[in-house]
Amino acid sequence: MSITKDVIIIGGGAAGLFCAIEAGKRRRRVLVVEHNPVVGKKILISGGGRCNFTNLYTAPKNYLSANPHFCKSALARYTPQDFIALVEKHRIAYHEKKLGQLFCDGSAQQIINMLLDECRFAGVEIGVGCRVTGVEKSAHSFIIETSQGRVESASLVIASGGLSIPKIGASDFGYRLARQFGLAIQATRPALVPLTFAPQKLEALMNLSGVSVDAIARCNAAEFRENLLLTHRGLSGPAILQISSYWQPGDTIEINLLPELDAESLLLDARTSDLHLVNLLSEHLPRRFAQMWCEQFAPSRAMRTYSNDELTAIAGKLAHWQLTPDGTEGYKKAEVTAGGVDTRMLSSKTMEAREVAGLYFIGEVVDVTGQLGGYNFQWAWASGFAAGQHV
Ligand code: FDA
Repeated sequence: MSITKDVIIIGGGAAGLFCAIEAGKRRRRVLVVEHNPVVGKKILISGGGRCNFTNLYTAPKNYLSANPHFCKSALARYTPQDFIALVEKHRIAYHEKKLGQLFCDGSAQQIINMLLDECRFAGVEIGVGCRVTGVEKSAHSFIIETSQGRVESASLVIASGGLSIPKIGASDFGYRLARQFGLAIQATRPALVPLTFAPQKLEALMNLSGVSVDAIARCNAAEFRENLLLTHRGLSGPAILQISSYWQPGDTIEINLLPELDAESLLLDARTSDLHLVNLLSEHLPRRFAQMWCEQFAPSRAMRTYSNDELTAIAGKLAHWQLTPDGTEGYKKAEVTAGGVDTRMLSSKTMEAREVAGLYFIGEVVDVTGQLGGYNFQWAWASGFAAGQHV
């Protein structure tokens, strides 16, 4: 016996639950199918357990996509203020950490509870621990075979997310389903991910795992000023996670280690002094970092012993430190997956596949990838909202 619904949503994450709420409010009969034993696992681990649920300054420029215009419509129709109003309605205390990033004061579980409460009000049914084994389309509906039986619906929403963090349930389901229905995919890659280096490249610095510096990271016309963190396999921290989304294998990244200063003036102004280079740099960088950096790139001597040309060259390395990463930590550490269902295949207003009536893609499975800072959840809410008005 098959169950018939108006809307079936595959994936009980941020986008899927949000779409379910909106569709439920329209009195659509909605079933969310989630293969994990609970919904919202990624929400729970997000923002260090406090969920950076939106960003006050969300704008299309905060998203990467083969079509940067695609996200505009959905983002305009469901804004950070709309989500904040929902958070406030549920009396969830929150704060701005920095740069418009809003986090729960308590725990990310509050956001999950809020979504589940809204699902209950909207009459949404949720099936957890439910595996999808096949999807077919008949003339007017989709027939979905699951480990808990057959379900049928006129609208099918794919909200199964990207490939990041497979150990909490990420799967390639959405991409496979898109291909099954003839939709193109923009190549996927790990994004918001630490960058790795062959041991010999950063030898000395890798011993400083845990040390962080304020820096500007640049790559392919993008630049971010945030903290850069040394790890035992390479570089991480917000500046690197941000720039990783713009990095492709073989690309060089450039780091400015003295973002507040003009490095050349700093060194030339000290050129008659007895001060050693490492001590001068330690005034602006963590001492251990300055020591290791000098060991690797510019052996430290008294400033007066360097020629002007030498100081200019050292300043160049401090302000334009060029590094070619050998790879990334991959999907097991990536916060998101860049690429995904090609937006040319979808309506930007409804998220419905242009050529397959009733089939929708929302959230991270779509080729819209936010920068670090709450933008990815805002996309999940906004794309879920857009589809939720139409399914
Ligand atoms: P999401 O991954 O949330 O949900 C997909 C759901 O589908 C999952 O529940 C999954 O189990 C289920 N599923 C997959 N395949 C299935 C199948 N075959 N059958 C049934 N169910 C299936 N973003 C942000 O804005 N602020 C933040 O603070 C953070 N922090 C953060 C930390 C970490 C460690 C990670 C990994 C990621 C973040 N992110 C983030 C990114 C954010 O979590 C992500 O972009 C959204 O969760 C995407 O929402 P979706 O609903 O699209 O996918």
